[in-house]
Amino acid sequence: LEVLIKGLHRLEYRGYDSAGVGIDGGNSKEWETNSKNIHLIKQTGKVKALDEEIHRQQDVDLDVEFDVHLGIAHTRWATHGVPSPVNSHPQRSDKNNEFIVIHNGIITNYKDLKKFLESKGYEFESETDTETIAKLVKYMYDNRESDAITFATLVEQYYITVQLKALTSQVGISLHPSRRGGPLLIGVRSDHKFSTDHIPILYRSSGKDKKSCNTLPRMDEDTCLFPVDEKAVEYYFASDASAVIEHTNRVIFLEDDDIAAVRDGHLSIHRIKRTAGDHPARAIQTLQMELQQIMKGNFSSFMQKEIFEQPESVVNTMRGRVNFENNTVILGGLKDHIKEIQRCRRLIMIACGTSYHAGVATRQVLEELTELPVMVELASDFLDRNTPVFRDDVCFFISQSGETADSLLALRYCKERGALTVGITNTVGSSVSRETDCGVHINAGPEIGVASTKAYTSQFVALIMFALLMCDDRISVQPRRREIIQGLKVLPDLIKEVLSLDEEIQKLAAELYQQKSVLIMGRGYHYATCLEGALKIKEITYMHSEGILAGELKHGPLALVDKLMPVIMIIMRDHTYTKCQNALQQVVARQGRPIVICDKEDYETIKNSSRTIKVPHSVDCLQGILSVIPLQLLSFHLAVLRGYDVRLFSTHFHLTS
Ligand code: UD1
Ligand code: BG6
Repeated sequence: LEVLIKGLHRLEYRGYDSAGVGIDGGNSKEWETNSKNIHLIKQTGKVKALDEEIHRQQDVDLDVEFDVHLGIAHTRWATHGVPSPVNSHPQRSDKNNEFIVIHNGIITNYKDLKKFLESKGYEFESETDTETIAKLVKYMYDNRESDAITFATLVEQYYITVQLKALTSQVGISLHPSRRGGPLLIGVRSDHKFSTDHIPILYRSSGKDKKSCNTLPRMDEDTCLFPVDEKAVEYYFASDASAVIEHTNRVIFLEDDDIAAVRDGHLSIHRIKRTAGDHPARAIQTLQMELQQIMKGNFSSFMQKEIFEQPESVVNTMRGRVNFENNTVILGGLKDHIKEIQRCRRLIMIACGTSYHAGVATRQVLEELTELPVMVELASDFLDRNTPVFRDDVCFFISQSGETADSLLALRYCKERGALTVGITNTVGSSVSRETDCGVHINAGPEIGVASTKAYTSQFVALIMFALLMCDDRISVQPRRREIIQGLKVLPDLIKEVLSLDEEIQKLAAELYQQKSVLIMGRGYHYATCLEGALKIKEITYMHSEGILAGELKHGPLALVDKLMPVIMIIMRDHTYTKCQNALQQVVARQGRPIVICDKEDYETIKNSSRTIKVPHSVDCLQGILSVIPLQLLSFHLAVLRGYDVRLFSTHFHLTS
């Protein structure tokens, strides 16, 4: 238990909302005959709370020593069902804990599997997709053709049966981990020499021979890893090397669709199908990394890591929701309310900080596609003003954490006045998620860095999806809808392209970091980028920065511009292009030498500017996702160069207002 709990502590940096362990009662032989021996202990909240819960257990004797023992542990970030002990992993097949499983990822076809299993009399206790794995394995076990079937064969059959439409890695007792999409590695430890340092892959036969499908592939001394002389051995299966590195630095990385099995201290690796180009073996590798290094990968802070995660996080926001083939959008969280929303008189978006900027960024496209008046409000100001709210208003609460105090107060205020409330949040089970009438989880994954980055772009995408949904039956806007949906399709690649500017932006930061202030100017779709860029710079570099609406330049801010003041301007080829060019002229006329973030094919701006950051072209209303990323990177590099430890910005303080 100590090893498991410590391993979970090591994974805490990734963010989670609940945790659980499953342990067998001891000797594996005994376990095989008495599955009731498996204990599950699960708890909402921190790993520490789980540890306390373990020590409260009456029926677990913590002083017993075993020769053979196994256990699994998991931290969960809720995606299916709220954080609660019953939704935590391990999930189980039945009340006797005959099969238990932990799992990272999403099973997209779990609803169909669940319906099938329920029709066969299996009762579900959690809201998770993971529970279907344990139940389906139990179903296959209950309907086995022969009593000789092993757990290894069951897991393989399970894979063949469901063809898991998912990015997952999972570990089941006893002890059978498999990987598809999600990372999974095996740490090996023994004081004795291992039989091999290359484990050959075992293949199930092609399936033509029906009988062979139900038999285990060949497992003998040549195809397994084990300590010679049958000495003691420990195997650690983990989704992240940080959980095992203090026990061993000898690891085997599994590849997609690998299945690993341990039996009597022997480790074997199987694959169901042989495909061209498969590597014939998995090698034991020696990890040279330190714990800190593993946790952050190649990144120096969570903020940087999360900036670079954006090509994947926007995909996760759209996953299962946008169909790029037939240009449709489905938001499961809004389907029961969409008619009511379409009938409303006004949309109000209420939020704080970066989340407010996501509202500013998407307001125009919401106005265009919904044809409704759209207000965007800072929660604190909205409350200060006692803003009138009516029953036929729809109020959106945008919040990464779902716990920001002012946003929550505003939510309760709007509910009291009878408005329909909609949440846009990254945190399943958060107050915003629970207290709103309906909403959309942005599914960006945990955001650890306090300066919000990937949550912003995912909120942006979620609000765009909402706008598309609102007009899906209006014939006149179909060409525009298609244009935006196709724009969303290529967005991840374009984000990658912007991220490749990192080195160039680092150089720019080196030129700017000793300055006192930086002004960021733009208009239209990019006003939000100016506000967000300036907020990022203020928040983490302690440098003054201001986002200025270029249309307001002549009404005061121009007085700040001279040849010394650093100015960043955003000029994109949309309906504000000419006006932005005018603003550029005004800045240049005051001897300013702006750095222009522009479309890489806007040769005119490139020619007329002394310094440009060139980003790829996207649909006008999505371009803001691409214009903000250079500023996220810039703020990060400025902070590092100014000597601030960006690592310290890794705790959210949302509960204070
Ligand atoms: C849901 C599942 C998702 C699964 C998908 C399969 C959850 C949390 N989500 O996603 O894992 O892959 O079905 O069809 O189980 N809600 C609020 N306020 C908010 C956010 C959400 O009330 O701020 C409500 C929604 O109205 C909905 C529920 O929470 O009833 C889940 O929302 P969401 O995760 O966005 O729904 P799906 O995308 O359908
Ligand atoms: C602040 C954070 O505390 O809260 C910002 O520093 C964040 O980065 C703001 O945007 C709002 O948080 P949330 O969780 O409501 O989006």
